[in-house]
Amino acid sequence: MITLNKIGKTFATAGGPLHAVSSASLTVEQGDIYGLIGFSGAGKSTLLRTINLLERPDEGTVHVDGEELTALPLRELRKRRLAIGMIFQHFNLLNNRNVYDNVSFPLEIAKVPRAERRPRIESCLEMVGLSDKAKAYPAKLSGGQKQRVAIARALAGNPKILLCDEPTSSVDPQTTGSILAALQEINRNLGITIVIVTHEMNVVKAICNKVAVMEHGRIVEKFDLREKHIVPQSPIAQYLFKNEIALEREMEASYA
Ligand SMILES: Nc1ncnc2c1ncn2[C@@H]1O[C@H](COP(=O)(O)OP(=O)(O)OP(=O)(O)O)[C@@H](O)[C@H]1O
Ligand SMILES: [Mg+2]
Repeated sequence: MITLNKIGKTFATAGGPLHAVSSASLTVEQGDIYGLIGFSGAGKSTLLRTINLLERPDEGTVHVDGEELTALPLRELRKRRLAIGMIFQHFNLLNNRNVYDNVSFPLEIAKVPRAERRPRIESCLEMVGLSDKAKAYPAKLSGGQKQRVAIARALAGNPKILLCDEPTSSVDPQTTGSILAALQEINRNLGITIVIVTHEMNVVKAICNKVAVMEHGRIVEKFDLREKHIVPQSPIAQYLFKNEIALEREMEASYA
């Protein structure tokens, strides 16, 4: 349903051209929770942002449901973007609006009439378990609650795809669990396809069915995590999987 074909993105910097993403190809199927993992600067966020063309690639094509987004005029692209929600590491909530009005925001932009907005907002807040916080302002919420407001806001546009950029990087491990559970639930219950950027293998292990490993702007390896025996070939994938295995053994030992 999402096809990235040979995506390239170069930034002009003071130090010369910087190849943030090079020849990256990826197919994300309907219902996938697809992880993009790699170290800082690998190009994960840039690649994620090319999916809804927040970042326009200089090379390659983006298709969603068979339609080439890279070929659409901006007007059409704006409409398609409504079907692609996005959440971020730092939540990006509007601090001068309460929870209800934050979730309402994308609907107001899309000029959805007020009467239609209310049931939509209420059901989105219910999905993330925050109905009782509708009137609260972001400053009064925990990190996990803020991220769930952001998820509700992303769901308001009735998306088929949800893009997540390090959604658990600024919360504690326990809160990470509640955010990942919310993502898994909307994937299962609403059939929303998720692409999630992370640098933590435990996030991938917790919810992803597939993962692509990025290094220096390239996708170096892809894995289907439902397969029994995963044999990483690249040094970076070996490192990421090995540390995870070591961590698992440590956990097992500590509970033995
Ligand atoms: N707008 C920009 N202008 C110039 N350089 C950029 C821009 N955006 C990203 N870069 C550079 O492109 C490279 C890839 O950045 P990107 O943010 O995609 O990496 P990342 O894997 O998401 O890293 P992190 O884990 O730190 O978020 C980095 O070297 C970054 O400095
Ligand atoms: Mg990033």
